[in-house]
Amino acid sequence: MSAFDDYLATFDGDPGYLDWAAFGPISQAVRAEVFADADLLGSGRPSSRKLVAERLDEARALAAELLGVAADTVTLQPSSSHGLMHALFGLTGTVVASTAEFASVTMTLERAAQLSGGDLVPRWITPEDRFVSVDAVAEALDDDVTALVVSHVDFRTGYRADLAGLREVLGPDRLLIVDAVQSFGVIDDDYAAADVVVGHGYKWLRAARGTGFASFSALARERIAPVLSGLAGVDGGLPIDERPSPAASARAFVVSGADQLAVARLAIALRDVRDAGVGAIDEAISGRVDVILEIAERHGIPVLTPRERERRGGIVALAPEAPAAVSAALTNAGVVATTRGATVRVAAHAGTTDDTLRMLDDALGTVVGAGA
Ligand SMILES: Cc1ncc(COP(=O)(O)O)c(C=O)c1O
Repeated sequence: MSAFDDYLATFDGDPGYLDWAAFGPISQAVRAEVFADADLLGSGRPSSRKLVAERLDEARALAAELLGVAADTVTLQPSSSHGLMHALFGLTGTVVASTAEFASVTMTLERAAQLSGGDLVPRWITPEDRFVSVDAVAEALDDDVTALVVSHVDFRTGYRADLAGLREVLGPDRLLIVDAVQSFGVIDDDYAAADVVVGHGYKWLRAARGTGFASFSALARERIAPVLSGLAGVDGGLPIDERPSPAASARAFVVSGADQLAVARLAIALRDVRDAGVGAIDEAISGRVDVILEIAERHGIPVLTPRERERRGGIVALAPEAPAAVSAALTNAGVVATTRGATVRVAAHAGTTDDTLRMLDDALGTVVGAGA
């Protein structure tokens, strides 16, 4: 078996699951190995604790490898929102963001601005189709803009931002801050084009919550004050009877010690992704999305997600005439998806089987007038 086949074998959930953009059922490998780590912690032996503690460097090194950056630029965080808080609370100037971003972007930027006493000003944009395109960002730029914060793959439309194009239009002096929750580890792209990348392991990495991370490039560390830096954000171990400055490395953007078992889950998941290859995973997901797009077209259901492979990830946003009826039909057929307002979001992973796609097809076929 190839490493990719081994990876596919770790998908053992029920058929019909198309909700990867909300939650990734925990990988079989992660479940098996994290129990062993819990047993090690159960012994209390220093050697056992040390073994589990090594997962921290392992997870950071693997995340860095997949991001294409140096390991000392990566921090582990309780969630991706925590990573965004470190990035945005320490920033000044005008920050461009779409009003349609996921709440971890909009709420964090809003709160950071409120606390800044006018030093941080959001420049909200509402681009056409909610796509944060290079053109939409170019229109919002002027000399006051210090950063853009954007989702790599949009949680609602499935639009994939053009990281290289955004980097180019921003130029070398403005920060590109990317929420890669809906892409990291499964979409092959140039993450190193960004100055800050945040993500987590509870969707596409299949490692459950507590598995956030954030990377901070040299420019990000120069521009962002580590205002939320905590006791673990310093060099040289636990400060006792002293109050040292935050570390010069990305470690400055850390508050306290990480949850060992969450870190272990993340490390196991990242290792499996690295071994399988992000390119192969991306290719497999793209093939499943092709099928979903074809199914939607056959049933006459409008799709909000771009068709071009390079502008989409694993999410397909369906906009049926009767979203409630489609949602009910999917539920009745055992297909798990997310319905929000007028859209039904389906998200396929590399391990999504033909059976699952057939269940989707059959369920949509039962809805009279599903399309527009
Ligand atoms: C694009 C995006 N960013 C952030 C989050 C939330 O991440 P976290 O729970 O790690 O803060 C989600 C969750 O759905 C999301 O879709």
